[in-house]
Amino acid sequence: MRLGVPEETAPGERRVALVPEVVKKLTGKGLEVIVQSGAGAAALIPDAQFTEAGATVTTDAGEVWGADVVVKVAPPTPQEVAQLGAGSVLVGFLAPLTAKDTLVALRDAKATAFAMEAIPRISRAQAMDALSSQSNVAGYKAALLGAQEMGRFYPMLMTAAGTIPPARVLVLGIGVAGLQALATARRLGAKTAGYDVRPETAEQVRSLGADWLDLGIDAAGEGGYARELTDEERAQQQQALTEQTKGFDVVITTALVPGRPAPRLVTAEAVEGMKPGSVIVDLAGETGGNCELTEPGQTVVKHDVTIVSPLNLAAEMPQHASQLYARNIQSLLELFLDEEGNMSLDFEDEIIAGACVTKDGEIVHEGAKKTVEAT
Ligand code: NAI
Repeated sequence: MRLGVPEETAPGERRVALVPEVVKKLTGKGLEVIVQSGAGAAALIPDAQFTEAGATVTTDAGEVWGADVVVKVAPPTPQEVAQLGAGSVLVGFLAPLTAKDTLVALRDAKATAFAMEAIPRISRAQAMDALSSQSNVAGYKAALLGAQEMGRFYPMLMTAAGTIPPARVLVLGIGVAGLQALATARRLGAKTAGYDVRPETAEQVRSLGADWLDLGIDAAGEGGYARELTDEERAQQQQALTEQTKGFDVVITTALVPGRPAPRLVTAEAVEGMKPGSVIVDLAGETGGNCELTEPGQTVVKHDVTIVSPLNLAAEMPQHASQLYARNIQSLLELFLDEEGNMSLDFEDEIIAGACVTKDGEIVHEGAKKTVEAT
């Protein structure tokens, strides 16, 4: 079976779907891996390392896209999908709740496509959970960005020139990224606090040595995710956070509701109330941002507060992000293959069925169906 690894073409995408370590494991199982020349360059993985690991490196994109299984990071463009061979399998982040053009192209190409985002978050699938592996990277980097943009120290310093109190860092949204941001900020010496609308996160926040901010709103939704707040709850939350954010030097926001615009947590009034020199790192820029004054993809200064909203933050740490992602892909591929290394897709399997978005010329994922039907 031939496995293709194309070069990523989305702007700013520096990750690659497989790394040499994983290529070696897959070729050891009898798979033929074809890597597009330069696919690893932005992640500082030269072609020679892929060759050493047993892959064939080619400059012919058509050969890579014509493989039996193509593995990607970012959603492919319709033009890329058109290069897939008949009956091909595609695996990658496919944004099933937003990327309409990609879904339509995959359906029309009769590809069997699996979205990494749609893998059910059950214990058996933990090793395949790319949302978590990449959010972990983003959360880490967000804490560093906060430190970098603030003209102050994170840790408490007792020096001959005087004592500097620790910075106060607040994390809003305690999913995987939020937990890693809290842990990283604390390791750097900041005094941390966390807040989420899922009450079960209180214990996780405290276990990381952070204070829990209790605003009295419970919005636990389905599948471990949060639900969207009612207008009344949102107003209550915004008002409470406007008071709370005043005392923090860095506010890192990571709040998301699947398939919905990012919840507005930090209002313009809250930004105005923060101390000059404070920093907001808004990780929700791709879906509009958690802060009213965020400009997605930009760093802006409003009311003397720096608001950073990086897009696709995991791609800014491409080496480890690719390594973790490649292991997620490897685990999923192992589920696809029989003992001889041949494709054997069992659609009775909860993970395979859950991750599949298109098959036999049809959209088979509920969320993706809604995306395609939306005008
Ligand atoms: P996410 O990226 O979808 O959202 C980030 C956080 O924002 C969530 O904690 C959510 O509750 C919070 N949020 C949403 N609206 C908010 C609001 N208005 N105010 C404050 N916070 C708000 O979350 P992620 O990281 O994808 O995790 C989602 C769930 O998946 C969690 O329950 C997590 O524990 C679970 N999970 C399960 C795994 C497994 O069992 N294999 C692996 C990883 C995550």
